[in-house]
Amino acid sequence: MNSEEKRNSVKKDYDLIAEQFGQDYGTFIEDLDVYKAFEEKLPKGATILDLGAGAGRAYAYFNKKGYNYIGLDFSSKMRDEAFKIHSEFPYILDDMVNIKNHFESNSIDSVIAMYSLFHLPEENFRKVLVDVNDILKKDGVFLFSYQRGVGEEFTDEPYLGDKGKSALYMNYQTDDEIDSILKTLEFIEVYKKERIETVNGAINGNSAVSLYKIIRKG
Ligand SMILES: C[S@@+](CC[C@H](N)C(=O)[O-])C[C@H]1O[C@@H](n2cnc3c(N)ncnc32)[C@H](O)[C@@H]1O
Repeated sequence: MNSEEKRNSVKKDYDLIAEQFGQDYGTFIEDLDVYKAFEEKLPKGATILDLGAGAGRAYAYFNKKGYNYIGLDFSSKMRDEAFKIHSEFPYILDDMVNIKNHFESNSIDSVIAMYSLFHLPEENFRKVLVDVNDILKKDGVFLFSYQRGVGEEFTDEPYLGDKGKSALYMNYQTDDEIDSILKTLEFIEVYKKERIETVNGAINGNSAVSLYKIIRKG
């Protein structure tokens, strides 16, 4: 499978699980401390671009706080769920590898990518970080999560039952890999958190260590 095929398989998976994902995660803010830490770094009324916006839970939180939120996701079913739960809001339906088609260099205050970058093949992962760095204004902030590990795999997606066996594409990162990419992009780390997820709590049903970082464009 090439990178595009891997990403398309992720899109299909989320189209299939959108309804249940929306029910379980559409409003459930599980990372309140991380969201709050991010908010502390934002200018008042900042524009936030959310890559892999899913069923809109970050929209619910940040819109209420007066931020100018724009979601982006390539799953039309996730977008439909988001609109069903929260009513319509700015939401770009596209693959995040195409963000440069939507935003100019140095044009946006902040970017979020929570539980979404781990679905990008390595070459796309690196390019998206380069593009985020490009579209952010100077001193702009980027909140993202990644899953610690090595290499890639198709993991089980429990929402899909038997059909979910080895169905969901995941790409893991070591801390050193992340740090070396951030260094080349001249991002400065301003926040870091680590969370060990249990099998039941993990978004893809597998035990994992999630890392959350907020970085500032230098
Ligand atoms: C686990 S969900 C997380 C959703 C949301 N960030 C949250 O915290 O609830 C991952 C989302 O990323 C989206 N996604 C994955 N790869 C993507 C890509 N290449 N371009 C756009 N969206 C993508 C999926 O469609 C899905 O909605």
